[in-house]
Amino acid sequence: MIFHYCSVCGRVMMAHKPSEKDVMCCETPMTVLEPNRTESDMEIHQIVRRQIGYFLTVSLPKHPVMDLHHIEFIAIETDQGFQFRTIEKGQEPIANFILSKQENILHVYAFCNIHLLLRS
Ligand SMILES: [Fe+2]
Repeated sequence: MIFHYCSVCGRVMMAHKPSEKDVMCCETPMTVLEPNRTESDMEIHQIVRRQIGYFLTVSLPKHPVMDLHHIEFIAIETDQGFQFRTIEKGQEPIANFILSKQENILHVYAFCNIHLLLRS
């Protein structure tokens, strides 16, 4: 999964494969985001997964829920595709997903408005 980020408006666009040309937003080329490894190690950015059967809950229980610092979305990448949940401002960073039979999680992502892309 590839995440393109606009440093002007903060928009994130996801793609299933790399683009041969610049992806544009706000008349500016978007940056390809890499997961923020330093910030991912911080306790507030720990991504917790809880799976029971086909039901998966992803949360960041210690992340602030403030206008100035919050999680904007949580996403999972699996061997069958990609699922995405928006987290509204003021909402706890918790997202529920339903997996298909024999679907395996490859990565779990969260996007913090300050620390950008986090991955577990
Ligand atoms: Fe953060």
